[in-house]
Amino acid sequence: MKYRTMGKLGIQASAFGLGCMRFNGPASGDTIIDEQKAISLIRQAIDGGVTYIDTAYIYLDKTSEIVLGKALQDGYRDRVTIATKMPMEAVHNRAEMEALLAEELGKLQTDHIDFYLMHGINKEKWEYFKSIGAPEFFDDMKREGKIRFKCFSFHGSYEDFEYVLNDWDWDMVQIQYNFMDINNQAGTKGLELAGSKGIPVVIMEGLLGGRLSKAPENVQALYDAFPVKRSPVEWAFRWLCDHPQVSVVLSGCNEPEQIAENLRIFDTVEPGIMDEAERKLMEDVRAAYLSRTKIGCTGCRYCMPCPNGVSIPGIFSLWNDKSLYGIEPAQDWRMKRITAEDAGADRCVGCGACEAACPQHLPIIEQLQNAWTELN
Ligand SMILES: NC(=O)c1ccc[n+]([C@@H]2O[C@H](COP(=O)([O-])OP(=O)(O)OC[C@H]3O[C@@H](n4cnc5c(N)ncnc54)[C@H](OP(=O)(O)O)[C@@H]3O)[C@@H](O)[C@H]2O)c1
Ligand code: SF4
Ligand code: SF4
Repeated sequence: MKYRTMGKLGIQASAFGLGCMRFNGPASGDTIIDEQKAISLIRQAIDGGVTYIDTAYIYLDKTSEIVLGKALQDGYRDRVTIATKMPMEAVHNRAEMEALLAEELGKLQTDHIDFYLMHGINKEKWEYFKSIGAPEFFDDMKREGKIRFKCFSFHGSYEDFEYVLNDWDWDMVQIQYNFMDINNQAGTKGLELAGSKGIPVVIMEGLLGGRLSKAPENVQALYDAFPVKRSPVEWAFRWLCDHPQVSVVLSGCNEPEQIAENLRIFDTVEPGIMDEAERKLMEDVRAAYLSRTKIGCTGCRYCMPCPNGVSIPGIFSLWNDKSLYGIEPAQDWRMKRITAEDAGADRCVGCGACEAACPQHLPIIEQLQNAWTELN
């Protein structure tokens, strides 16, 4: 296992951090059905050198913290740092924040949390956390030793990221990042901004939730033609670890073979490890993925709301993801929501309001029907 210094904190962490969101299934809402298996996976990772474990209050129907707490008995707690999170929805005032943290400490069977994160925030959620006194609460808990570091995980635009990052003296930040997301969410600019401030960056969705683990034909052909043979998973992690600003790459594993494979990969990767030919390969790989794009919808939502309730950007995003990453629409939470909310393209009456509003001038009406046919 390679270990990295976490920016200004100066402490060491394993480059591979175990995510506890995906045990026994790819969807975050899955319930743990095999506790012993999850405990065994966590201990396998720690025995292999992992020192950073990530969970959250809400993961796996609120059972992830409980299972992690059990896995960290028998001396395992002292060998790792724990990251867990406070969800905005669960807290409205100081008393609720105190109760939530106490509950998390109880579930994790520990007297302190190393990295305590405001969960999945953007500018709006950060303003909410400020309005209920969360920064003062985090500072107080740090003084009392109940948390060691005050942190946030982020989902939003780069502009929001810059605002939130510069608005407080954060100890660490967790962002979604991988070779397809260089211009999405915090993106490369966000990674570099955090790095320039010495704030350690922990990566989530390094494999896009597993979607980058199986390459489509045109991408696999590029990997196959490269003189050194590596799996798509190894290329994705290698690309991430090449970045000096990255401290920890989280991956949620469901099988012992995946943990073993990731332990092997993270034994070989360090900042600056890729040469020019490898970086060029990954640029070509990104372009090959993007060449599979069905429609250039940017998700700006200027076309919304549709007067007939059609989820226009949602349908286009699924259509693109099916083509790029081979997702199964019927298994995807977005498709389930569209179906539940009766927001499919079959509701479109062709009024044209969306096309008039679309800055990309997309032929939305025609393409919605094409997308809907392929998604069903
Ligand atoms: N704070 C937040 O808002 C937030 C959001 C997302 C994630 N997270 C955290 O970040 C962690 C990491 O994110 P992630 O789980 O999305 O990571 P990821 O690495 O992008 O995806 C994990 C999935 O990749 C596949 N995988 C992993 N190792 C593999 C291997 N060696 N070979 C083949 N497939 C492999 C598995 O998919 P299959 O199941 O298909 O086998 C696994 O479920 C999460 O577990 C969670 O703790 C936080
Ligand atoms: S054309 Fe169809 S999708 Fe577009 S706004 Fe009208 S009903 Fe909605
Ligand atoms: S306005 Fe156009 S680009 Fe923006 S979300 Fe709607 S279809 Fe996509």
